[in-house]
Amino acid sequence: MDSNMYIPNADRYDLMEYRRCGRSGVLLPEISLGFWHNFGENHDEALGLEIVHYAFDHGICHFDLANNYGPPNGAAEERFGRYMKQSLHTHRDEMFIATKAGHPMWPGPYGDWGSRKSLVASLDQSLRRMHLDYVDIYYTHRYDPNTPLEETMQALVDIVRSGKALYVGLSKYPEDVARQAYDYLDAHDVHCILYQGRYNMLTRQPEEVIIPQAHKYGAGFIAFSPLAQGLLTNRYLQGVPEGSRMTQSNFLRPEVLTDELLGKLRELNTIAALRGQTLAEMALAWLLHDERVTSVIVGASSVEQLKNNLRACKNKSFTADELLRIDAILK
Ligand SMILES: NC(=O)c1ccc[n+]([C@@H]2O[C@H](COP(=O)([O-])OP(=O)(O)OC[C@H]3O[C@@H](n4cnc5c(N)ncnc54)[C@H](OP(=O)(O)O)[C@@H]3O)[C@@H](O)[C@H]2O)c1
Repeated sequence: MDSNMYIPNADRYDLMEYRRCGRSGVLLPEISLGFWHNFGENHDEALGLEIVHYAFDHGICHFDLANNYGPPNGAAEERFGRYMKQSLHTHRDEMFIATKAGHPMWPGPYGDWGSRKSLVASLDQSLRRMHLDYVDIYYTHRYDPNTPLEETMQALVDIVRSGKALYVGLSKYPEDVARQAYDYLDAHDVHCILYQGRYNMLTRQPEEVIIPQAHKYGAGFIAFSPLAQGLLTNRYLQGVPEGSRMTQSNFLRPEVLTDELLGKLRELNTIAALRGQTLAEMALAWLLHDERVTSVIVGASSVEQLKNNLRACKNKSFTADELLRIDAILK
């Protein structure tokens, strides 16, 4: 045996709870790992592998990617492909790997949105970058209002039939289109098993329609940016640290961190401390408190952060009083 071969923790599946993904045979870990940030060319490749190994060693078997994650576009999938080759390929059947297409990926009219041309070509590229024969779930990353929905959905159906994806999912689809998408897919015997949406203590809209709708249609719901990109952690409570996402990414601008928001985060942090949790732990536990939330996809720029996030699962119950106090702060 190669002495450099990675040998994962034998107890990993005892360290995580798994939830059924809608009306399907798939179980997902309560915590999943996302590759949007922290796995591009601007981040250390060896550190990324440490994070991935730590995740896998602790029962995280669901990894969330997209064609355009980087920077540059495609870099996160390429890096994930190298991790697979180096140390994870023998565990492929233990892993549930997601990718997506729909945001700008390559130049010209076929590099984004939801045409059959774009979805099929993009998946072929993703498989090559990740050194995979198939992905476990393929998402349409966003609704394309200019392509007939039937074309996008039929492309997903045909992709499943081709064996290049085992399941399909929707990301960020508005409610009315999501309904038509669920119906189309069901009518073509490719049940949509998962809806991916932004859901965290600061963005609660999915509670109103999207989560109940997914539940009604037998789809799971997976929350992205569950920590509001780091706002719902101790990262910004004492200022904006150098190297944090707020200093590095256009997706998290310093303007969002108003005095009012900071006040709320500090109040939430006090409740978390009374529960014996960090703010990050409480924010994740609060999402997982709802059984309809199949999993939360966290990002992590260090092993320490991931370690902290995994501790959320140790206490996911809230008293009625805690929930009321949290609601009052978030109003
Ligand atoms: N479908 C979609 O359109 C869509 C959109 C966005 C994201 N996603 C998916 O969701 C995943 C997660 O999104 P996200 O990265 O925004 O998630 P997030 O978990 O809300 O934010 C992750 C960031 O929060 C900070 N952080 C995490 N844990 C921490 C801790 N314990 N203590 C202090 N800081 C902590 C880190 O910021 P620093 O970098 O500052 O350390 C980390 O990079 C993505 O990777 C992607 O897979 C999907």
